[in-house]
Amino acid sequence: MSDIKPHKKIVIAIDGFSSCGKSTFAKAIAARLGYIFIDTGAMYRAVTLYALEHGAIRSGIVHEEEVVALLNQISITFRFNPERGASDIYVNGDRVEGKIRTIEVSNCVSAVSAIAEVRTMLVRMQQEMGRRRGVVMDGRDIGTVVFPDAELKIFMTADPHVRAQRRYDELTAKGDRVSLEEIEQNVRDRDYQDMHRAISPLRQADDAIVLDNSTMTVEEQMEWVMERIAAL
Ligand code: DC
Repeated sequence: MSDIKPHKKIVIAIDGFSSCGKSTFAKAIAARLGYIFIDTGAMYRAVTLYALEHGAIRSGIVHEEEVVALLNQISITFRFNPERGASDIYVNGDRVEGKIRTIEVSNCVSAVSAIAEVRTMLVRMQQEMGRRRGVVMDGRDIGTVVFPDAELKIFMTADPHVRAQRRYDELTAKGDRVSLEEIEQNVRDRDYQDMHRAISPLRQADDAIVLDNSTMTVEEQMEWVMERIAAL
């Protein structure tokens, strides 16, 4: 595998569908280049968790104005966790890394991420975190909205069934009792919601390159991306 690093620090934007392995991939690239990795989905999940815990989401219904009213109470930070080789996310000083990946949060996060004020707040934070470049950021709108000037934009996709199986394996490994059908439905619903929301819908930037990793290993994906970085 080539070991060429770009001469100057760049921004690598990784967008795509949920459960495509974006974070795993982004984390591996960041480790390889000595860059910061930012999982922006974790930020939308953290806001969703806070809204759930503070009553702004009841019986699965997201009460938009109530979520917006909570925003000025939410402070999101990241702290590097050497055990995971990535940063953990904290809300008001509490580590919420484990709590944001539940199916309950997954079921509400698309609705929360469709709220304009939520996006404005988080996009601003993300732009600030990447101001000095040298970041790999994964999400849905990184190459289109957060860093339209990113030097490398990758749009990731994979078969929905493969994605559901991956998330199922992840959750059951943690001891969560979920069904594969439930997960696949959630994956398909989120694809639809992410692509059809009014603000910053998930779409491939014109200058993004597509990576379909349905049948690729992480090593193969790394090989693929390092070749593209070397060609910059
Ligand atoms: O990547 P993920 O599945 O953890 O993301 C959770 C949700 O957050 C997903 O349904 C879409 C939303 N999201 C977004 O709207 N914009 C981003 N940059 C990242 C995630």
